[in-house]
Amino acid sequence: MQDFTDKLVVITGAASGVGRSLAVAMAEAGARVLAADIDGAGLLETKAALDARGAVSYTSECDVTSQASVDALAARAFDELGGVHLVFANAGIAAGEAGPLWGYAESDWKWTFDVNLWGVVHTINAFMSRLQDQADEAHFVITGSGNGAFIVYPDQPVYTATKAAVQAVTEALYLQTAAQNSPVKVHALFPGPYIVDTGIFDSDRVRPERFAKSADAPDSGIHSADDMRQMMEDYGMELKTTHPDEVAQMALKGIREDKFWIMSLNPGSESQIKARMDAILHRQNPPIPSLG
Ligand SMILES: NC(=O)c1ccc[n+]([C@@H]2O[C@H](COP(=O)([O-])OP(=O)(O)OC[C@H]3O[C@@H](n4cnc5c(N)ncnc54)[C@H](O)[C@@H]3O)[C@@H](O)[C@H]2O)c1
Repeated sequence: MQDFTDKLVVITGAASGVGRSLAVAMAEAGARVLAADIDGAGLLETKAALDARGAVSYTSECDVTSQASVDALAARAFDELGGVHLVFANAGIAAGEAGPLWGYAESDWKWTFDVNLWGVVHTINAFMSRLQDQADEAHFVITGSGNGAFIVYPDQPVYTATKAAVQAVTEALYLQTAAQNSPVKVHALFPGPYIVDTGIFDSDRVRPERFAKSADAPDSGIHSADDMRQMMEDYGMELKTTHPDEVAQMALKGIREDKFWIMSLNPGSESQIKARMDAILHRQNPPIPSLG
């Protein structure tokens, strides 16, 4: 797909960060945007950014942890707005885990899996069969993370486990659709090459009551990119960041070039992936990765 003009794009997690940048980039490329998120106030800010560009856009409050909520989003897109050509399953959170993993709050595990993995599964279930039935070229982009897909960072095992599962689901969806010669092209989007400066460090702002963190649960103490920068400086390392607009441009390019792997690796991650793969192939114990 080269021309996005008038195509309807559905984006989950569009009230902030990568999702908002995708919405703006798609609108600037001429697409119509249906921005979905659990955060109604953030959606209004995204809508204002789209209006300022004269885009045709719509918003839907949607909770990706609920199949019914994502089904309602799909019904609006297909039945009211005339069909969908691009879906970004992008909503995601990090629960701020810290310390040994046997001490994590169960609510952190459950919330992170509910949004990061089940959110993707619900979006696939709501959109895929209707995209197939349209019999028109469409793109389904799933936001993963190298943290889980390729590297296991010991500091964030819950997030890492969700993104490992997301990669398995994404790759299986690619393989199934490719084997069928489906009109739906599947892509794995990896925000980067460095940590992307978004709201992910403060996901607690949208944490639902049913997953409330107990007062004695361990907390990472990192609630913004600046907290992360400070922590790394304390260890004598520099935090490099990527702007989410750069990720959105990379996504558009990857779709236009029909790439499954939409990513840009920094040299540090690339060598850590190689070291992990070498260790697997040579049956060596896992090397310890570092963020620096
Ligand atoms: N920031 C990074 O460095 C980075 C790196 C790799 C992958 N990612 C992934 O990128 C994606 C986007 O995250 P971001 O970094 O832009 O963070 P962000 O916090 O800025 O955006 C995430 C959005 O998801 C929404 N969301 C949370 N729970 C939801 C729910 N139940 N239903 C619907 N929406 C919900 C939030 O309200 C928010 O608007 C996530 O999947 C994240 O895991 C981010």
